[in-house]
Parts: sequence; structure tokens; C-alpha cells
Amino acid sequence: MAIQEIFKYPSPILRKKAANVSRFNEELQQLIQDMADTMYEAPGVGLAAPQIGISRRVVVIDITPKEEDNKLIVLINPEIISGEGSQVDEEGCLSVVDLTAKVKRFDQITVKAHDINGKLHEFEAEEWFARVIQHEIDHLNGTLFLDHLSSLKRALYKKKRKKQLMREKEEAEKND
Ligand code: NI
Repeated sequence: MAIQEIFKYPSPILRKKAANVSRFNEELQQLIQDMADTMYEAPGVGLAAPQIGISRRVVVIDITPKEEDNKLIVLINPEIISGEGSQVDEEGCLSVVDLTAKVKRFDQITVKAHDINGKLHEFEAEEWFARVIQHEIDHLNGTLFLDHLSSLKRALYKKKRKKQLMREKEEAEKND
């Protein structure tokens, strides 16, 4: 178990386009393990590698209900091949603290991704699962769900977050 620190907005790593994975080795397995541990601990339903400071195209997802056994889904170099329909629902993000907002997404998507052994899979996803995949793939491209909101909502959040960080800094200095 290695729970990692989750990088939060406005950390620059969250804005970088992540690099493709080409080696399906032990290091990748370790990264996936760390990501899963960090996601379950948070807890969250999805996590992208850039959120723990690793700019690689790796995503972990688990949308099984709490009372059921964990079912980890690992997507490496995931790509949305096609999308259909639309859905609007509330979203949040482990890297965007204290904010949820409605975001419009495709309702059904076809996805291509490698598994942990490097084998390529193609599958369809819909509704909430499709939403989580779209949110996590956004992370690999340096996009946050914030970017799907109106510029006004984004500006308000930016301001609120700035104040929050300033307060945290003041607190830390006081305790020095
Ligand atoms: Ni997120």
C-alpha cells in the first residue's frame, strides 16, 4: 500500500498533457497499485495518474456501490473513439476541492484502451460509467471539469480557492 498525495487545483501538473505508456512493466504495475490505493483511500470513483503527479496516460476507476466488493478498472492510453447522446449531471473531482457542478457529457461512448498487460480492448460505456471515463480522460489532456463550466463560475471558484490557499498559508505561518 502506498497512498500518494493528490495534487490539487491550481497545480501545474494537472494542466499538462500526459504521455502515452509504452512499457507494460513492473513500474507500471506499481503506479497502478499506488493509484488504486490512493483512490480507495480518498475515497473516489476514479483517478488519473497526473493527479498523483505522474504525467502518464493511466486511469483507474471503480464505480461499484460501497456495499459490493471492489472491482477495479484500469485504462491505459484510453481513447474515446465515438460518442453519442448527452447527459447532464453533478460532478466533482479529488483535485478540485469543495466544488461540484453540473457538466454535460456524452451519454454513450466507445472506448479503446490497453490493459495492464498491454492488450488493446474496445468497449462501450454509458451513463455514469461513461461520465467517469470522460472525466478521467480529460485529466490526461490537462482538462478539469472546471473547464466545462461557464467562465463566471470558473472565475468564482478560482477566487474562492485563492482565498482558501491564502488562509491555509496564514495558518501554517501562525503555527511555525
Ligand atoms: Ni477528477
